[in-house]
Formats: sequence, structure tokens, C-alpha cells
Amino acid sequence: MNKVLIINASVRKDKSHSRKLTQIFEENWKRKNPKDTFTAREVGLEEIPPINEKWIASAFVKPLERTKENQYGVALSDTLVKEFKEHDIYVLGTPMYNWSIPSGLKSYIDQLMRINETWKFRSGEPDGDYVGLLENKKMFILSSRGDTGYGENEKNGHMNFQTTYLKFVFGIMGIKDIKIISLDNEEFGGALFEKSKNEIYQRIQQI
Ligand SMILES: Cc1cc2nc3c(=O)[nH]c(=O)nc-3n(C[C@H](O)[C@H](O)[C@H](O)COP(=O)(O)O)c2cc1C
Repeated sequence: MNKVLIINASVRKDKSHSRKLTQIFEENWKRKNPKDTFTAREVGLEEIPPINEKWIASAFVKPLERTKENQYGVALSDTLVKEFKEHDIYVLGTPMYNWSIPSGLKSYIDQLMRINETWKFRSGEPDGDYVGLLENKKMFILSSRGDTGYGENEKNGHMNFQTTYLKFVFGIMGIKDIKIISLDNEEFGGALFEKSKNEIYQRIQQI
């Protein structure tokens, strides 16, 4: 039995295509893995606060050495990290905004990137060698984008700071098994977008 964490990052609700992708994923996965459990983590419609000075003052202090005040600085981060670690499979639905990710998702990632919790320096001192602390995890990134051609050797590949960043940053945490499925062409609409949607829905249903 696996624990699946569904993370949605679009600031749109009913009109969101990335939410539709995570919904199709969940329905399909449930059908094939009826014993798995699902948790929803919202980072688009509900605000995840950005990290701040208090957060930094606590995050880099060992838990036993924290004052009461600096414990509060990381209280939400502790909750999010605990939830994240408790799950085995992550399904992340996200738009591309300005060639990157929505700010709520960035805040969420900043809250999760905790030294000695999700990653560490190999030697214990800043040495540029990062070791991920999450093992045996799997992630599906289901993205939605207005334009297309964002693949590695495609015309807009150099503008893709969305899936490339996500793969990199979750990789630093130790998540190496990451599958990316992107629904493109949203801004063109019409037959082209309908075709893209059908293809992507089918690919998700085949997982
Ligand atoms: C503020 C904003 C910025 C966007 N930036 C880009 C972009 O840089 N590249 C792109 O291909 N599409 C861009 N889009 C289009 C979205 O990626 C597309 O509408 C996507 O379907 C949004 O996700 P959602 O349907 O889950 O809300 C942008 C849309 C918005 C609202």
C-alpha cells in the first residue's frame, strides 16, 4: 500500500487544466491501486507563506538548540516536511507561469528544503556536495503550459525553468524517479489544444 500526496499549484480552480490532470491521475491510480491512500496538499488556492528571517533563524539551528521563538519560525515547515516524508508517491499538478512555477509552489518548495531533514551536506559542513535524504520516492509532474516546444532540444527548451527546475530541486532532496507529462498549447486553444488534451489524458490513463 502506498501513500499518495496530490499537490496542486494552479491559482485557478474549475478552469485549471493542471488540476484536471491530477484528477485524471487520481481516478486512474485509485482504480488500479485500490488500497493506496490519498492526501491533498493545496499550494495554489491556499497561501503557503514565503520563508522569512525568523524561518532562516530557526531552520539552520539544531532542533534541541532552538529557542521557543525560533521553533515557531519553522512550525508550518515542520508540518509540511513531516507530511511530505510520510508519503511515497507525489503527484504535482502545476502551470508554467512566466517560464517558471507559481509563487505558491516556490514557497512550498522553500518550506520543504530543510537542511538535515530533506537534504544535507555530505561532510556536514558546506562542501557543495548535496545529499538527498528522501529515499524510494516517486514523483509525477503533471504540467500545463500555454505554449509548446519546451523539451530539452526543442525551440523553447532554453526558456523552460519550470519542469527543469522541479526535476533538479526535488532531485536534490533525493527524489530521482520523476516522470514529467506536460499538456501544452493551452493559449492556442482550438483543435490543436483538443488534440494535445486527448493525447495527454490517454498517457495519464495508461500509467
Ligand atoms: C500569469 C501567467 C503566466 C503564464 N506564463 C506562461 C509562460 O511563461 N509560458 C507558457 O507557455 N504559458 C504561460 N502561461 C499559460 C499557462 O501556463 C496555462 O494557461 C496553464 O494552462 C495554466 O495552468 P492551469 O490551467 O492549471 O491554471 C501563463 C499563464 C498565466 C496566467
